Amino acid sequence: MQPVHSISLDALQEGRPRSGEQARAWCARLEAGAVLYFPETPLPIPAQDQDFLLGSSQTESTLHKNIAYKPAQDKLSGMDAQADDTTTERLATFMRWYSSSVTSFLSGFLAPYRQGWLLDYASFRPIEEDGRDLPKHRRNDLLHTDAFPTRPTRGRRILRFFHNIHPTRTRDWMVGEPFTQILGQFTPGKLAMPVSNGTLTRAAKSLASATGLAKIAPRWKRTPYDQFMHELHNAMKEDEQFQRDCVRHSFQFAPGSSWMVYTDTVPHAVLAGQFALEQTFLVDPAATVNPSTAPVAVLEKLAGARLV
Ligand code: SIN
Ligand code: FE
Repeated sequence: MQPVHSISLDALQEGRPRSGEQARAWCARLEAGAVLYFPETPLPIPAQDQDFLLGSSQTESTLHKNIAYKPAQDKLSGMDAQADDTTTERLATFMRWYSSSVTSFLSGFLAPYRQGWLLDYASFRPIEEDGRDLPKHRRNDLLHTDAFPTRPTRGRRILRFFHNIHPTRTRDWMVGEPFTQILGQFTPGKLAMPVSNGTLTRAAKSLASATGLAKIAPRWKRTPYDQFMHELHNAMKEDEQFQRDCVRHSFQFAPGSSWMVYTDTVPHAVLAGQFALEQTFLVDPAATVNPSTAPVAVLEKLAGARLV
């Protein structure tokens, strides 16, 4: 299967008359490991907002860091301390709009998910990706599958919608082999198989929460599934041989394009690019078209045990 599947806006229009069937087909493609790519975004950003985000309408832009927007609290995090209230308020207003536009678009495009997704964070990524100096586990130029260290998904899938808002430059990605192939390269040799909940006894769990340990060490709140996915993320980034030799495809996402992908299973890396928007959804495997492709299902089958 081609890792990146392009969809033109014309094809999107043509899909409308049989939208239920078409939406299931798009979901099935994503679940099988495709990146769905709109060379021309279906969600154009208004010109004044684009200027604001690129900082060109500001003499002293303070938007230097990746900034998260938490829709449930309607809050931004990661803003510079120096950012003035007007900039902060304007960015929050934009992100609120962006988050709800993506949600309403995907409610139709990926209609089956609507009943079973949680709207997670959105982000604005103004930093140049080429040459970022980050600790290994946080580097995004190394192929990896996503797992949030402090926010366990408990078996929900991580679906991300991206948008390259740079006016002239591409956002350059690599995409790796399907999840089951990657798993075979890491486990059981390099990484122990996940073990079921039974390993952390009820007594150990209540001790952890009674002593407040659960708060200090969020790791305790992770299910065996989350623990394994986090270890896999780290193992991929740490493995120099894997990074050097693994099969990968390069892809350049055009200025003004959008794409979406299950980043929990599709190994990916960003090598260069600046100014992107992103919205994350946590999808319940029960709402997916092929629940057996969810990483939790694949791992539970391998482990022969419940992992969430
Ligand atoms: C990532 O999820 O690894 C980052 C992708 C990007 O910012 O383009
Ligand atoms: Fe990632």
